[in-house]
Formats: sequence, structure tokens, C-alpha cells
Amino acid sequence: MRIGIGNDHSAVDMKDEVTEHLKSKGIEVINYGTDERSSCNYPEYGEAVGRAVVSGEIDLGILICGTGVGISLAANKVKGVRAVVCSEPYSARLSRQHNNTNILAFGARVVGVELAKMIIDEWLAAEFMGGRHKTRVDMIMEIEQK
Ligand code: RB5
Repeated sequence: MRIGIGNDHSAVDMKDEVTEHLKSKGIEVINYGTDERSSCNYPEYGEAVGRAVVSGEIDLGILICGTGVGISLAANKVKGVRAVVCSEPYSARLSRQHNNTNILAFGARVVGVELAKMIIDEWLAAEFMGGRHKTRVDMIMEIEQK
């Protein structure tokens, strides 16, 4: 599995910790930046990871900014992206099982490293359940075509 990771200046250390965690699970990690700690604009990285997911360059994306909010909003503007902000594992799991999310976002200023790893593990272990949930996800994606 190939996972793309993107972040702003507030989340460089968190990105490094998460990258090590993913690699330790045998996952290939593609870094879309930033690796700079000077103030930058999170939409750039949200869009880059969003486009990479939709094109198939990566299987899934992880986005981290201060809160996870801005960077996920940017990713969600890319057609085909379903990005979710999670601060706990339950929503992360359900976002995959019911909503088939393809990007997980969280805030480096909101969750600690160990909780972040737990959220990621729960998200990755879950599978989309399809059925009635597919009907609803299809309805969400049809909104993009209107
Ligand atoms: C940057 O200061 C901060 O606004 C950003 O990391 C993020 O929290 C935005 O949603």
C-alpha cells in the first residue's frame, strides 16, 4: 500500500513520527511536504495529496495541519476526495466503514503522537461496508456533478 502524507509548518514533527510508524508497518510513504517549519499555506499540500489520491498515484492520504480542518477543506475541493478530520479512533473507523473516506486528517495541535497512531491504525484496518452505505456515498459524490 502507498500512502501519501502532506502537512503544513505546524505538523513537521508529527509527520515524521507518523511516517516512521507507517513504515514500521511495511507501508510505502510518499511525502508531499512541507518539511519546512516556516509559515506556509496548507491548501497547497491538501490539494497535492487530494489530486494524488484521485489520480491513483497513492492509495490513501493523510493530512496534518494545526487542527486538520484547513488542510482537509482544501483536499475536499478536489473531485473524488472524501477527507475526514478525526480526533479519535471511533470516527476514523466508521469514516472508512460507512463513508469510504480516502483521506484522513487530524491536528498536530489537537492530538498527541500516540493517539494519532491509534487513529491511523483504526482507519487503515477498517474496510468499506458497501450496501446501503454505498448508496449514500454515491449520493455524496453525485453532488459534485451538479
Ligand atoms: C496555521 O497556523 C493553522 O491555521 C493551520 O495549521 C490549520 O490549523 C488550519 O486549519
